[in-house]
This record gives sequence, C-alpha cells and structure tokens, in this order.
Amino acid sequence: MSFLSIFILFFSLQTLSANEVNLFTTRHYESDLKLYNEFSEQTGIKVNVISGKSKPLEKRIIEEGRSCEGDVFFLADAGRLVSAQEKGLFKRIGSLSIKKKVPKQFRSSHWVGITKRARIIFFNPEFTKYEDIKDLSYDDLSNPQYRNSIAIRQSNNVYNQSLVSSIIENKGLNFTKNWLNGLVKNFSRQPTGNDRAQILSVAAGESKFAIANTYYYALMASGQKGEGQKKASEKVKPLFPNQNNRGTHMNISGVGILTHSPNTENAIKFIEFLLTSKAQKHIVNNTYEYPIIDAVQPSELIQKLGSNFKQDNTTNVLSYGKWQKKAFELMRQAKWN
Ligand SMILES: [Fe+2]
Repeated sequence: MSFLSIFILFFSLQTLSANEVNLFTTRHYESDLKLYNEFSEQTGIKVNVISGKSKPLEKRIIEEGRSCEGDVFFLADAGRLVSAQEKGLFKRIGSLSIKKKVPKQFRSSHWVGITKRARIIFFNPEFTKYEDIKDLSYDDLSNPQYRNSIAIRQSNNVYNQSLVSSIIENKGLNFTKNWLNGLVKNFSRQPTGNDRAQILSVAAGESKFAIANTYYYALMASGQKGEGQKKASEKVKPLFPNQNNRGTHMNISGVGILTHSPNTENAIKFIEFLLTSKAQKHIVNNTYEYPIIDAVQPSELIQKLGSNFKQDNTTNVLSYGKWQKKAFELMRQAKWN
C-alpha cells in the first residue's frame, strides 16, 4: 500500500467514527447545555443530551444493553452513582488526570464527582439566636428540646437517604434508629415539597429549622424563583452543622462512563473538560453548587453564606450508596413519610 493510500484510509476512518458523545443526564439545568456547547466549540465533539429522571434512564440503559449508545451518565447524588455502579452500568475510568483532580472520597474506580453539595440547616434569626445553636450537629436534631421544629422533605428523597446513610456510617445502626425516632417526633409538619419549600416554612416562622441543600437557598436569593422567594431567603440564616467534629454533610453530582459506551475517548475528554477551572466556574456560578476542584471559588451568593465552614471530607461518599436501602427502611420504620 502506498503512503498516499494509507493517508486516505486514515482520514476516511476518521470521518466514519462519529465525533460525538452521548450524554444521559438527570440534571435539569439550562446552564449545563451552554457549557456542553462550549465543549463542542472547543473540541469539535458534538454532545447529544438525553435528559430524564434517574430510574427511567437507568432502566433504558439496562434494557438496551450492548446496543445502548450512551457514553456518559450524569447523576445527582452519590447514592445513585453507587447503585448504577453496582448494577454494572459503568466501566472503569482509567484517566489519571481525572483521578488527580478529584479528592478520593468523592470518586470510585467507576465514577467521579463533578460538583459538591452541602446539606445544612436554615433558621430564622427572628425566632432563634445563632448563639444558642452555633454548635448544633445533625445528632442534636433528635433532641426533645426541638419538638415541632424541623421542616424536611420526604423519606423517598435521595438527599435525605444519603444524609441518614452518613449517620449510619459514622454512628452505627442502633444510634441511627433512635436518632430517627427522635427526629421524626421533631417534625414541624408532615414532610412535603422540595428543599425550597422547607426554607419557606422557616422564613414564615412555621418551622424553627429547615434541612436543605445550599444551592436551593442561593436559587431563591438570586431572584430566579420570584420576588417572594427572594424576600423569604433574606429572612433565614445558614447553620453549618458538625463544625466541632467531622464537618458538614457533603454530597456530589457526578459522572460515570457507560459499560458499552461507543465513544469512550470522547467521554474521557468530556469529563476532563467538566473538571477544568473554566467549566467548574461556569457550573458553580449558574447552579450554585460547590466546585469539586480547589482552584475555583463558589459563587458569590454561596460565599455570603460563609465559605470557611468545615466540610465533611472524611466520610467516603461510597457509604451513601452502601447504606441507602437500609437508611430508607429505617426512615420508614420511624414513620417518616
Ligand atoms: Fe436538587
């Protein structure tokens, strides 16, 4: 074969393999799409986005098996990433540059965290003095002194399941059972609504404490959810629990490469891109999550909440997946609806 024909063959093979990456995602942010466009402009790799809820997407991936064209699966919550890995949905991520960027408690051999989320307590300074609660830990939320105080969403919410899993991991099953019984007695109302609904309840003086992820607060404070919610956000203050011990509960949103991914090289490039300072800045300034890399600062709205709090950097997020089912079972047993 002449040099010229090898040359021609090489280029025709290049055009045969599709220059794209197929992304299955449970994230629902418009701003993510803008970011993916930037990736395409930079690399020439087209990002085909298939969005949906985690269970239907997972079902589709399993049913399609080898013929599934998905490359990357983007999920919110470590518990979901662990369960996808356990079902064999992900292939190993070999890239060293990816591993180096993500602290080891926020990744496994098969997935990596892209953003971090803090699940904290919000209170209303009109009714509660900061001085009285500044040392609060998640453990204290079951204390009888807080009867009829806590607004939190339902037990089927995965963020709550991960929070309870972290208590099991750190304190054991017996402690958690008792803790849950006390916690449920302290609910100010039957759990309902999303995290913003809990913050609204505290702003209105109906509940003493709301348990919510910080980005819900920032979304309210940004005005994107209307003037009423912006005003409500101004009535509440953050309390970062567990500052005297392991730190505040942190969760992640993250990605894995699907087992039958047809465009694995592009998938790796895509993940590497999500971990660049530029992409991380874009994410944190639009969704108000925390960056997974140290080089980037959280958005200004989030920094106002306090950026020097102690994050739980010791509990491996793998444990959220490990205890997820048990956590849900115990939550139901404690009559958390
Ligand atoms: Fe969320």
